[in-house]
Amino acid sequence: MLYRQEYTEKAWATTLPKASKDHVGSSAPMRVVLAGFGVVGRSFFELLRDKTPELASRYGFVPRVVAIVDSTGYAFDEKGLDLARILRAKAKTGKVGPAADRPVKDIISRTEADVLVEATPTNFRSGEPGLSHVRAAFISKKHVVTCNKGPLGIAFQALNELARHNGVQFRYSGAVGGGTPILDFGKTCSTGDDVTKITGILNGTCNFILTRMEQDHLDFRDALGLAQKEGYAEKDPTLDVNGYDSAVKISIIANHLKISRATVAEVKTKGIQAVSSAEVSDALAKGKAVRLVATADNELTVEPVVIPRDDPLCVSGPYNAVKFHCRSSGPKVIVGKGAGGPETASSMLRDLIEIRGSMDGTTKK
Ligand SMILES: NC(=O)c1ccc[n+]([C@@H]2O[C@H](COP(=O)([O-])OP(=O)(O)OC[C@H]3O[C@@H](n4cnc5c(N)ncnc54)[C@H](OP(=O)(O)O)[C@@H]3O)[C@@H](O)[C@H]2O)c1
Repeated sequence: MLYRQEYTEKAWATTLPKASKDHVGSSAPMRVVLAGFGVVGRSFFELLRDKTPELASRYGFVPRVVAIVDSTGYAFDEKGLDLARILRAKAKTGKVGPAADRPVKDIISRTEADVLVEATPTNFRSGEPGLSHVRAAFISKKHVVTCNKGPLGIAFQALNELARHNGVQFRYSGAVGGGTPILDFGKTCSTGDDVTKITGILNGTCNFILTRMEQDHLDFRDALGLAQKEGYAEKDPTLDVNGYDSAVKISIIANHLKISRATVAEVKTKGIQAVSSAEVSDALAKGKAVRLVATADNELTVEPVVIPRDDPLCVSGPYNAVKFHCRSSGPKVIVGKGAGGPETASSMLRDLIEIRGSMDGTTKK
């Protein structure tokens, strides 16, 4: 009963969507396929639900989540899925709906929708499953909003080219900095000026660990244990502490600002595992601090660096900070929380609004 519309041939046999311009107009629907229903996916759906009246009145569109996929299930309703029912199904069965009888990329291709919102886990090696999801969306003429760093770190240029080729938009604000608009800020800095260098604290987990080593005189292992206890580090923190997460983020920023075309594999990366409490204390005594700094200059690097405490980049705890060094106007810094479900969802909604604006000509991007 709950998913009565899901497996009808009508749902599957839908032809590829026509250009989204068909839906432009006052309070037109914007049909969303959501891939991933974890921390971010749920937050995004909740935000859409809560903001629907405002989106209609301020931006002239009504979002409608017509399909959701998680790792094992699928739900579809062309009239728009009901969040409360999906949450109940997920809580009861662990899935958003029954098992799909075909690959997720085929579901994405064949569902009539305007945009794919991609929030599946980041995979730094293959970019999958997100890479296939994003490709399938572009080829079936859907815009994409994603917070998934994997596809961007591996195939930034190719994916942007594929989006252009298919005449659709590709947005990924939530992939760097959660709800802090680092990419938009960087783009603004580079409009009418040249960004010659970027330096950033891009991983909240590492920053939390280094801050606690400093404040509580802990060694790396103990500070990591504390970060795990307080929910700032994953059970397996490898990709954070070895610098990979920062590496993928600096490659995304540099590609976004057209400073570099490097993939994540080309970033010279050193993590914080070998930082000793003696190094941290020594820096502290000199009015400095050890931070994991990602840099885009002649090359892209990630490494622990001793920086002055009064440098605006020197944030504490789980914060991100990025400094854009501009040729004419000097350095500019953006600081904010780098993760979180509702925060990241807000970036994704901003992307969705921008896409909508570009469809009806109310924004220039
Ligand atoms: N959490 C944050 O603060 C944050 C901030 C910025 C960016 N991000 C990025 O956002 C993405 C999602 O993060 P999250 O924290 O929401 O992760 P999460 O809680 O682990 O949720 C991941 C979701 O993806 C689903 N999934 C896994 N494999 C799939 C597949 N092959 N096909 C379809 N769905 C699949 C999972 O299904 P099940 O529910 O069945 O397991 C789950 O619903 C990641 O790429 C992450 O790097 C997260």
